[in-house]
Amino acid sequence: MFKINDLNYKYEKDSSALENINMDFSKGNVIGIIGSNGSGKSTLFMNLMGILKPTSGSILFKDENLNYTKKGLYNLRKGVGIVFQDPEKQIFYSKVYDDIAFSLRNIGIDEEIIKLRIREALIAVNGIDFINKPIHFLSYGQKKRVAIASVIAMENEIVLLDEPTAGLDPISTNLIIDIINTLKNKGVKIVISSHDMNLIYGICDYVYVLNKGRIIEDGKVENVFINEERIYQAGLELPWLVKLHKNMKLPLFREEKDLYKYWECSVLSTNN
Ligand SMILES: Nc1ncnc2c1ncn2[C@@H]1O[C@H](COP(=O)(O)OP(=O)(O)OP(=O)(O)O)[C@@H](O)[C@H]1O
Ligand SMILES: [Mg+2]
Repeated sequence: MFKINDLNYKYEKDSSALENINMDFSKGNVIGIIGSNGSGKSTLFMNLMGILKPTSGSILFKDENLNYTKKGLYNLRKGVGIVFQDPEKQIFYSKVYDDIAFSLRNIGIDEEIIKLRIREALIAVNGIDFINKPIHFLSYGQKKRVAIASVIAMENEIVLLDEPTAGLDPISTNLIIDIINTLKNKGVKIVISSHDMNLIYGICDYVYVLNKGRIIEDGKVENVFINEERIYQAGLELPWLVKLHKNMKLPLFREEKDLYKYWECSVLSTNN
């Protein structure tokens, strides 16, 4: 599992993109990283993947410092998959099949198994029709779904999702939520960044709030979102279920369906 100790990262000498970051991903099964534009989320993910190297501090994966040699990074990427914020960054081959197959071939998976895994992963993202398409024929949201299929096919232990639903339509967003829940139930650890507070509130159990490269709050999801001031300080919004709790004095529901159940029970008890 990842543990980050006193990490600082500077792109340029006199300004820090990340400052004094301490994180422990064993604190939850689905970890949320939230923060406004420029708060450092993508920079953090790229540090975790070994694409960027901390200016100071350390990142431990399975109790060992990240190893930045070619072999060390190969091993890291066998265990950890990432869906980049920009799907273009992830695409190496012109055809969807070859692009997904690339990472699987790289870790020595048998061609027959590759075929099966690619089909399954594309079905999961509702993208089986893209299988033989050139990637440049796809829309932004379709490319994003192919990128997600790519990490599903890798069967990593940890999956980092940087804004996985940005630019997706509601059906695709719900598909991604289902995929995250399926991965979680299989024991895969998920780390997700998003500007969609309802999404984070719905699927995460532990959340870190970033503001200008620093962690200003962290904790269990319901405790983090109850701290309105911190959420606004980070330039974010409360999830709608938390707003109902704050403004209408309703109980704090974790899911939309809990609210409807509560409502039904209240109406029934008033009518009787
Ligand atoms: N390649 C780069 N060179 C210099 N500065 C950069 C570079 N990439 C990012 N930064 C700076 O680092 C800071 C953090 O950027 P980052 O992309 O990590 O933010 P983010 O939280 O992912 O934002 P968003 O919500 O827009 O995706 C910003 O101030 C940004 O300007
Ligand atoms: Mg980003």
